Amino acid sequence: MIRLMNNTDVRSVTNIEYKVQTHPWTMKQFEEAVQTYQSTVIEEDGKVIGFCILQPVLDEANLLLMAVDPDFQGKGYGYKLLEESINLLKNSPVQIFLEVRESNVAAIALYEKAGFHQIDLRKNYYPNPDGSREHAVIMVKSCSDDFASLFK
Ligand SMILES: CC(C)(COP(=O)(O)OP(=O)(O)OC[C@H]1O[C@@H](n2cnc3c(N)ncnc32)[C@H](O)[C@@H]1OP(=O)(O)O)[C@@H](O)C(=O)NCCC(=O)NCCS
Repeated sequence: MIRLMNNTDVRSVTNIEYKVQTHPWTMKQFEEAVQTYQSTVIEEDGKVIGFCILQPVLDEANLLLMAVDPDFQGKGYGYKLLEESINLLKNSPVQIFLEVRESNVAAIALYEKAGFHQIDLRKNYYPNPDGSREHAVIMVKSCSDDFASLFK
């Protein structure tokens, strides 16, 4: 089940975040995300196992962060969470942008499956724990593709 995140989810969400990120968001950032963005969670048997944070901006949106608990990865939850979270956006965005570490092959494959494609590379964008830097892949999904295809 996918639903909007609330403050009582923040501890579970932060726990997942700390399991998967080298530079995790804090509880305070997730509390702010509940208020400011479209933040969603996915539950399995009443337990929060993933989250997705989308920032609507005018007629576009930015995917800021998403993750699935490592115990539940590779089972289709990430794809379902992303698709349904995009469908919940109230501003019906024309396009959705995101940036992702170049080495994150799982996330890039998920995003491509969900209709995103690479438009740019932001060099040395992300810090690594050893002090080095990593490129960010910038991706976009055009939400009007299905509509446009009706007229081809
Ligand atoms: C990226 C992430 C959210 C994917 O969630 P998930 O629930 O494991 O993904 P799904 O099981 O729904 O897989 C959907 C698609 O993603 C791709 N994918 C998922 N895991 C993959 C892996 N380990 N290697 C390559 N592709 C992978 C596949 O294309 C897959 O489709 P398929 O099953 O038809 O092949 C999850 O790996 C995660 O939380 N990673 C850590 C946090 C992170 O990197 N977040 C994104 C950047 S903010």
